[in-house]
Amino acid sequence: MEEVLTNFARRDGELYADQVRLADIAAEVGTPCYVYSRVAIERNFQSLSTAFEDYPHLICYSVKANSNLAVLNVLARLGSGFDIVSGGELERVLRAGGDPAKVVFSGVGKTKREIEQALEVGIRCIDVESIAELQRVNALAARAGIKAPVAIRVNPDIDANTHPYIATGLRQTKFGIPMADAIAAYRLALDMSHVAIHGIAAHIGSQITDTTPFTEALDRLLRLIEDLEEIGITIENVDIGGGLGVRYRNEQVPDSKNFVTALINAMHARGFDLPLIVEPGRSIVGDAGVLLTKVEYVKSNVVKNFAVVDAGMNDLIRPALYDAWQDIVPLVAESESKRNRYDVVGPVCETADVMGKDRELDVVEGDILAVCTAGAYGWVLSSNYNSRPRPPEVMVDGDQFYLIRHRETIDELCAAESILPE
Ligand code: LLP
Repeated sequence: MEEVLTNFARRDGELYADQVRLADIAAEVGTPCYVYSRVAIERNFQSLSTAFEDYPHLICYSVKANSNLAVLNVLARLGSGFDIVSGGELERVLRAGGDPAKVVFSGVGKTKREIEQALEVGIRCIDVESIAELQRVNALAARAGIKAPVAIRVNPDIDANTHPYIATGLRQTKFGIPMADAIAAYRLALDMSHVAIHGIAAHIGSQITDTTPFTEALDRLLRLIEDLEEIGITIENVDIGGGLGVRYRNEQVPDSKNFVTALINAMHARGFDLPLIVEPGRSIVGDAGVLLTKVEYVKSNVVKNFAVVDAGMNDLIRPALYDAWQDIVPLVAESESKRNRYDVVGPVCETADVMGKDRELDVVEGDILAVCTAGAYGWVLSSNYNSRPRPPEVMVDGDQFYLIRHRETIDELCAAESILPE
């Protein structure tokens, strides 16, 4: 089967990121270990940016997909904005050199402190997800003596045709303000002394492999904008969220040109030319990363062969949580003839701890495998379950590689805890 390795190439059978042999990274840093390619992140960002040509836009990289400071810094240097969902993410963006004036803040549960923090540093826009939040933002901005820039995040009730856990634009989900209540929300915002209406926002889901849900959602937002114009409310920016998918297996995913052209066409079809904000996460970093893992044991029972690897569901949870497929390939190309079918499983004491089911591989103890397309929602979703230190992260830049996060130690794991006095 064809390998899904957009940004990692084989040379003489060996897997490379840019000009660095992944086997050399595994030898120096150990496994499990995440590896990202700087040039791949840059390429993904640039191709999206280029696709807009002269159309006014802002790319706000969605920090939750991969929030390592080095990743954020690479994107900040390209002029990227950021989509955040917590005070912690805001702090990371600032430490990575991101421009607060290009930050949009989504999330259903923003605390008072988080809103204050966002207002203090002067972010571009708070995407408000309820009337109660709108009132809270107005009150906090009044106390600070400023006008808070807000967008109403509406729930466009669109089926994004994706995994139910990552579909956010259906009306039964917790996200956004229902379309039917949006006009009332804007009226309220207009009458508030300390909010300024910056725009409208939506996010319909993640790993979307078709442009239609995006254009349908955009069309609903534009129709709402028309209704708002009739009552004298002007909307100046449209944020269509993130969600563009990547290829994990055999998905046919629109490229950034197709995606952007579809959005601009939908905009023009209703006679609008409004600046577009997009919040891509996965499509910027997903195929720019792999997780390297070593085969600890090979074993069989009556029905299955298992390759037990040193990365578990605590290191990469997507296969266990969403039953997601991520390709698993050897660092050194193997001969087709010796392949067997394996379940690639981790060391965690849970039956769900499976990286990949029924994979055709030729493996022996000590072999190193790469779990592909692991740059997004990989390390960020890792945990210490089973008291496993979280893996290190490495970024390849040309012919060099840099440790951008060290392997956690057991001391670090225990440092925050204390026992009761005698
Ligand atoms: N904007 C908002 C408001 C979001 O909630 C999200 C993702 C994004 C942007 C970025 O979406 P992306 O372009 O990355 O699809 N853990 C799941 C994905 C959860 C996505 C949550 N929201 C996974 O591993 O598939």
